[in-house]
Amino acid sequence: MFEFPKNFAWGAATSGPQSEGNFKKKHQNVFDYWYAKDPKAFYAGVGPDTASNFYNDYREDIPLMRQAGIKVLRTSIQWSRLIADFEKCSVDEEAVAFYNDMIDTLLENGITPYLNLCHFDMPVELQHKYGGFESKHVTDLFAGYAKRCFELFGDRVDHWFTFNEPKVILDGGYLYQFHYPLKVDGPLAVQVAYNLNLASAKAIAEFRKLYGNDGTKKIGTILNLTPAYAASESKADQAAAEFAELWANKMFLDPAVLGEFPSKLVEILEKDGVLWEATPEELALIKQDTVDLLGINFYHPFRVKAPEISAKSLQDWMPDIYFDNYEMPGRVMNVDKGWEIYPEALYDIALNIRDNYHNIEWFVSENGMGVSREERFMDEHGMVCDDYRIEFLKEHLRALHRGITAGSNCHGYFVWTGIDCWSWQNAYRNRYGLIRDEIHTQTKTLKKSGYWFAKVSAQNGFE
Ligand code: BG6
Repeated sequence: MFEFPKNFAWGAATSGPQSEGNFKKKHQNVFDYWYAKDPKAFYAGVGPDTASNFYNDYREDIPLMRQAGIKVLRTSIQWSRLIADFEKCSVDEEAVAFYNDMIDTLLENGITPYLNLCHFDMPVELQHKYGGFESKHVTDLFAGYAKRCFELFGDRVDHWFTFNEPKVILDGGYLYQFHYPLKVDGPLAVQVAYNLNLASAKAIAEFRKLYGNDGTKKIGTILNLTPAYAASESKADQAAAEFAELWANKMFLDPAVLGEFPSKLVEILEKDGVLWEATPEELALIKQDTVDLLGINFYHPFRVKAPEISAKSLQDWMPDIYFDNYEMPGRVMNVDKGWEIYPEALYDIALNIRDNYHNIEWFVSENGMGVSREERFMDEHGMVCDDYRIEFLKEHLRALHRGITAGSNCHGYFVWTGIDCWSWQNAYRNRYGLIRDEIHTQTKTLKKSGYWFAKVSAQNGFE
């Protein structure tokens, strides 16, 4: 039996923009806007308008999640829904009523809410007016919005998060063009990375003013950690992995937990003439306002080798002038999604947090398997028999269990996701849920993994 610690949190994660649908929103976020402009950019032309209809269905969805063993739900508030005027930080009363009732319904159903403040969903007005997180003014607006959220919902919510996967905001919006504003600008991505760390620290500062530091209420950030592994022992491959680790993981992990950017990364960016603009006051704030806990999203490792120097030049600075992706022979793949399956990396993460980050409290805030055309696996009663997902989750839980046994301070495991949800450009291409959403009829039914997870959650482990 793989038994987990007492009070281990068995949860699921989703986000406002991926589940609510954009009903009654006064403002668009960057995805609402991009979809309205170019629906073909999204898989099968499906956009965020309805998503899994959580805005209308939450009273039915929440008991269904409970049935699947979900005891904690991590979701996010949409800045573009809650706030009526971004500069004045006034609120939209209908949105307040929705989030209030959502929180109350979760609590009535015995589900603890964990709330995140930004899941890639920059209000488009702020993107167009200021460049979103390209601008330091927007970091102030973000802190004001965060403060509003704490004041409005903090009486019932004890766990808060500033960002989900800030790194993906750079990757998608400023490097590889899978999020709006679809720019390709390495040096700007570096500044956005800094500004995101700054925005997080400013929001944490607001939180501390209200709740202090005694641990009754906690604030953190959610990072997608992808441990970097070198293709070989060669010096060049090792150097590629060192940079990849700095860029992909430590650039957010270090300031969040240790209050400082890694000096080696600063040195490299400075040498290349692309270091962010920072003031001593801002750096002092980042130093002071670190997190209480970490959410770690884990899907796949990051395998790299030395770059083909000839093809790369410092004229157009991009982080991948320092590494190339490496496809390890024999690696196990989720072919639908195109991601390597390597649960061992979760064990490595657990030990890294234990050894290099004060063994800070953390939890797996997302882990899951995206599979396309899951109707292939339906039985005669219409249940998706997703044994592949059960196996995937088990393998990761075993690796996590070893990490916890070795002393890592992990308090929970959240599946991505409870109910199948809309996923950015991929829309419903890969489904991850424990609960299937028949999007045309809006019927929601537990998959085999939903029944399995309910058992694991009830037993606090599995055979
Ligand atoms: C995570 C994100 O990185 O991956 C989620 O936090 C996202 O928002 C999930 O939905 C799965 O991504 P995809 O593109 O496979 O659906």
